[in-house]
Amino acid sequence: MRVLVTGGLGFVGVHLIDQLLRVRHVTSITVLDNCRHTAAPQALPTSQRVRFVQGSVLDAELVTHLVADCEAVVHLAAETFVDASIVDDELFVETNITGTAVLLRTLRTLGARRLLHVSTDEVFGEATNEPFTESTPYRPRNPYAATKAAADHLVRAYTVTHGLDAVICHCSNLYGRWQYPEKLIPVTVTRLLRGEPARVYGTGRQSRTWLHVTDAAAGLIAALDHGVGGESYLIGGDRELTTLDVVGRIADQLEVPASEAVSFVDDRPGHDYRYTTSNDKARRELGWLPATDFETGLKDTVDWMIDHPGWWK
Ligand SMILES: NC(=O)c1ccc[n+]([C@@H]2O[C@H](COP(=O)([O-])OP(=O)(O)OC[C@H]3O[C@@H](n4cnc5c(N)ncnc54)[C@H](O)[C@@H]3O)[C@@H](O)[C@H]2O)c1
Repeated sequence: MRVLVTGGLGFVGVHLIDQLLRVRHVTSITVLDNCRHTAAPQALPTSQRVRFVQGSVLDAELVTHLVADCEAVVHLAAETFVDASIVDDELFVETNITGTAVLLRTLRTLGARRLLHVSTDEVFGEATNEPFTESTPYRPRNPYAATKAAADHLVRAYTVTHGLDAVICHCSNLYGRWQYPEKLIPVTVTRLLRGEPARVYGTGRQSRTWLHVTDAAAGLIAALDHGVGGESYLIGGDRELTTLDVVGRIADQLEVPASEAVSFVDDRPGHDYRYTTSNDKARRELGWLPATDFETGLKDTVDWMIDHPGWWK
């Protein structure tokens, strides 16, 4: 299979490409990425089967040229930092919504190609007692989540109206090597290694289900291979932890005393209190389950960051 991966230099992309090469044995992978600050070109696997094209998903001519040469598209390209979307959502609307629309129009015109659209559990808003499932109504509460939700709606509309063969995956909070140090785990490691406390929003009792990025990549490949067109799948972690739990575990590993590990700051506007996900459908229909336990994955991530100061300094 010849695959186009948009946003393939990002955190999820480099892990997904590694597994597509090693586990899935794809014939060729074209990476389309415009090298935003989160991109990690140094992490892109070196292989004759991988070709990097610097450019934007907003460039319809370039997208048409690249889609014409592939059999499947994995769409990861996005603006991804919630805090930045609160300051200014313009780029989020352009990249996440218009960028997806450009890709969809191209796929409609060329036909006969599968799309795996990667979304987030944040489109469902705030969880209460029940975990999110694929039928949970969309209630995005921050601009990033709203732009991802809009993109999902477009993808779903194209499957119904234009018969596009597209699968949507909602990933929960991911962590692992090569994540840009603006997201909770790498930014906390970075601050503690610099001798600064982690900045924790509000009470720090917001909770998320955490999933190691290599497990997410395996889930995305399972959806690419076995997902039913028009369906969506939650690719979620099985470990729910509060922000304070996560920061505390990192501080323990770095031997930072609890009293020096945390600085509380005003809560983020629209901060969702809880995300929690059910993996039942992905387990049943894709045969996928997370394999990495949180302590092992976190230890690997922290050790890797200590060994790779060039990534965060
Ligand atoms: N990391 C997570 O915890 C998580 C959770 C749920 C869903 N997701 C989704 O997974 C996808 C990948 O996330 P990530 O964590 O790898 O993000 P990331 O920010 O690390 O990577 C995004 C990549 O997209 C590229 N990009 C941005 N705008 C582009 C454009 N116009 N054209 C081409 N490339 C562009 C960037 O340069 C970057 O390499 C996103 O769609 C995100 O919404 C991520």
